[in-house]
Amino acid sequence: MAKKNKSLYICQNCGTQHPKWQGQCSGCMGWNTLVEELQSEVSTSKAQQRWDVGSSSSESQPIRLNELTENDKGIAERIPSSIKEWDRVLGGGLTKGSYTLLGGDPGIGKSTLALQLALSLKESGLEVLYISGEESSAQIALRSKRLSSKPSNLLIYNESHIEKILSLLEKQKTDLIVIDSIQTLFSSELQSAPGTVAQVRECALKLLSIAKKQKTSVILIGHVTKEGTIAGPRVLEHMVDTVLSFEGDPYSQGRFLRALKNRFGPTHELGVFQMQNEGLVEVSNPSELFVYNQGKQRVGSSTFCTLLGSRPLVCEIQSLVSPSVLPYPKRASVGMDLQKVHIYLAILQKYLHLDFSKFDVYLSLVGGLKISETSGDLGALISLYSARKHVAFDKPTVAMGEIGLTGEVRLISQMENRINECLKLGYKNFILPATFKDKNKKLSAKIPHVKWLSQAEDIAALNFQSLKYERSAQA
Ligand code: TYD
Ligand code: MG
Repeated sequence: MAKKNKSLYICQNCGTQHPKWQGQCSGCMGWNTLVEELQSEVSTSKAQQRWDVGSSSSESQPIRLNELTENDKGIAERIPSSIKEWDRVLGGGLTKGSYTLLGGDPGIGKSTLALQLALSLKESGLEVLYISGEESSAQIALRSKRLSSKPSNLLIYNESHIEKILSLLEKQKTDLIVIDSIQTLFSSELQSAPGTVAQVRECALKLLSIAKKQKTSVILIGHVTKEGTIAGPRVLEHMVDTVLSFEGDPYSQGRFLRALKNRFGPTHELGVFQMQNEGLVEVSNPSELFVYNQGKQRVGSSTFCTLLGSRPLVCEIQSLVSPSVLPYPKRASVGMDLQKVHIYLAILQKYLHLDFSKFDVYLSLVGGLKISETSGDLGALISLYSARKHVAFDKPTVAMGEIGLTGEVRLISQMENRINECLKLGYKNFILPATFKDKNKKLSAKIPHVKWLSQAEDIAALNFQSLKYERSAQA
């Protein structure tokens, strides 16, 4: 059957197909995201083969759930590695035969993480194939030397033509395949360029079908687009078992691994690493990374404890409030939602009568951390208050609690856990919601408990060393 070529306009953001070009995608409403892609129609028998993912003669019959053994279900077997943070995020290690997408910004450390994992699994006796379309074999060898002093006989393959990769996979039995990256792969059956949604989808599907047949685990590395989505995201996300995101501020050393989707484990765990000269190093006590200079307290600084998955993490909020020369003062936030900062300023204005209308306001979490939790509300407010009034705590103090729009300070979840983490780091002073009951009597009786925001100001004022900062507070 002769192949017919037709042109389709595919949104590079969400994968929606359009017969004609248009400025706005009808799927995700994004502007200028359509790219023309020539599609060659695949003959029916080939198409059937493509969708025949994992079907074998024994599985083509329906089977009773209770007759399945753990092995048939394929969910029991994990592949533990020496990278504990990786294993924890996945819920006990990579699952045998699973399909994982590892996404992140360019340069964040995806290749480094994948190569470290590949080296570790190879050392434990598994057959691992590292396929790179981005870097030459020499570059990979150089990187592996940097990561591990021991020479490794890890199998590397420098190829981005999917048909060649598939023919190798037919012959070579492996336990794990790493693809770096899915955007460099291309199939000669399609005429569109590598990295387009059609190519990404096609190559991922072809790999999926062979991986499921051979029960091989696959890790696909994918770059994040400018909009913050993994390229071809919606088309790949439903196809894979696990979507991992590797994040961090490229200018600081902290790197975070989280699962956005996980068919075999939790999605709330966070893996913490530090990018160092010899590769990614696991951080066993992440709290130390997010608190800057515990001893000396500075204007605009406040500490709280957030929860990342099941793990409490002490972190510092810093604020800078300075007179503005702009008709509309600037507000900027790093690590916290800017909308929240606007709400905090409105609360401070309403209940503590602090005027920010002629001041630029900047708020940031130390260490490139991002949070969406409410536990930092009280800390953020105190940090803004401190920056606005030019006062600072005289001792390291932790302030935790959610703030309502009516000015009340509310309880947050897992308070005991958070307090324990702060005590471990040596914090002794706390400002906590009045509704908190210290059942285990871990805290001294003198801890101020606040119910309303005006109280928080009174308590903070007691601890703030206002005299030390003689530059008059312009309140
Ligand atoms: P890389 O893994 O190539 O990023 P990605 O695959 O996500 O694009 O990491 C690149 C950055 O990491 C680069 O800026 C150098 C830095 N790096 C280190 O700091 N230490 C190391 O040991 C390695 C291998 C990389
Ligand atoms: Mg890379």
